[in-house]
Parts: sequence; C-alpha cells; structure tokens
Amino acid sequence: MQIIIFDDAQQVAENAAHWVSELIKSKDAPVLGLATGSTPISLYKQLVAKHQRDQLSFANTTTFNLDEYQNIDAENSQSYRYFMNDNLFDHVDIDKSKTYLPTCTQSENPREQGLAYESKIKHAGGIDLQILGIGANGHIGFNEPTSSLASRTRIKTLTQQTLTDNSRLFKADEPQPTLAMTMGIATILDARYVLLMATGKGKASAVKDMITGPLSAMCPASALQIHENAIVLLDKEAASELDDQAYYLWADKENRKVNQAFGLFHNF
Ligand code: F6R
Repeated sequence: MQIIIFDDAQQVAENAAHWVSELIKSKDAPVLGLATGSTPISLYKQLVAKHQRDQLSFANTTTFNLDEYQNIDAENSQSYRYFMNDNLFDHVDIDKSKTYLPTCTQSENPREQGLAYESKIKHAGGIDLQILGIGANGHIGFNEPTSSLASRTRIKTLTQQTLTDNSRLFKADEPQPTLAMTMGIATILDARYVLLMATGKGKASAVKDMITGPLSAMCPASALQIHENAIVLLDKEAASELDDQAYYLWADKENRKVNQAFGLFHNF
C-alpha cells in the first residue's frame, strides 16, 4: 500500500485528479472505476476543470461505477446515475453509452444482473484504475462488514450505520433505499490500480483498520492489503489515528522519485 498524507482535502482531490488524468493520457482506451458519495465530488470538479482548461479528453474512456441503488430511475436525483451525470459526465466529452452502473430493477434477477456487469467489465479489458471512498464502518463500494472477500457484483442490504451516515443526503419526505447492487471485493481487487480517498476525522478509525489490519471481512477495505497497487490518499484528519506517519511521509518522497523516472503507472 502506498499511503500519501496531505494537509487538507483539497490537496487529496488535486492529487487524485493527477492520477486519473495521467491514466487517461497513458492509455488509448482507459477503463476507470468510479465512486459516488461526498469524497470524490472535489475530484470530479478537478477533472471537469482539467477538461475545460487543459483539454483533458474523456472521449475514449469507459467507466464502471461501484454501485447503484436497486430499483431506482436514472432521473431520480438520488440515483448514482444522476450523481455521475451531474458531477462529471454532463461536463466532459465522455460517450455516455460507455458509462456503466450496476443497475437492477425490481423485476430483474440480481444474480443475472451481477454476472452481466462482471462480464461487461471483462469485455472492456478490466478496470485500469478504481476510485474508492471508505465508509466509517470500513466498507468499500457497498461491501458492508462481513462481506465475503471473494464477493462479486451482487445485491447487498445496507447496514444501519451506512443508512444513518447517508441519511444527510435525503430530505425528510424522500424514501431512502436500503438495497444496492455493488461490485464485490474480488471485483475491486481485480482492478490494476486502486486509489482510495479518505478525508475528515470521521474516517480515521476505518483508515487505521484498513491499513494496519487485521485483514478481515469486518473491515472490507482491509482487503486492499493484498492488492498489488493500492494507493491511499488521506488528509491529516483521516490519517490522525495512524502510527508511523513519519515513515509514510518519507516513503512518499522516495516513491515520487521512482514515479518521476518511470511514470505513475509503471507497474502496468
Ligand atoms: C460510493 C461508495 C461508498 C462511499 C463511502 C464513503 O459509490 O461506494 O463506499 O465511497 O460510503 O462515502 P462518503 O464519500 O460520502 O463519505
């Protein structure tokens, strides 16, 4: 795991945008895995700015989102399709027919939908770079604690903690979905690179569990310990429960030299 600690959330977003834009520039047909939630909003703002200011083009990029609520219309402002259009897709030159989310209506079979999503990812050549946030309970995607480390795209019931954490995003009269389709932990581990962003004190305990273990289904993000190319971008608050911060800062300096010489994605 490459752990990079920044002064604030803005620097986390800027650095994440650098990783994404380098990926897009380095591949003819890049495949990005995307996340929703509060954390990546500033990353998407940075990407839109790079598109407008530096002509960063998304024309050849294919995207796969981590998750989507079950049985929700794309037009519903609570859907993750709406979120992605609103925060990124509507503002860049991406071909929306190459942007995928793991949808499942009430009448569709979640298992079949999950298998179809997995094969779409395979067909696209696999995910080059997967963006992740982390739940206060250690979830990645909607892989809640006790999710199988070998899981694939499927339907999950959200935990009470996740429902409470996300209730801030729903108005009093808006129903909050309790079921979601999500990439599994094994799906996420298949990505060539994963880039997890965490900001704020509320994530500090989950971040510590993810990095210092144990590797456990009780902290799904700890599965990233066995990923070959996991990059973790933290602000000071999210890193605040980590021991050994001096080592992470020093290792980051050394990694930057290697990255400068061989490129950010030299492990491809
Ligand atoms: C979103 C997702 C979730 C979030 C996590 C953190 O697609 O899969 O795992 O990344 O719940 O959410 P925020 O960023 O709102 O704290």
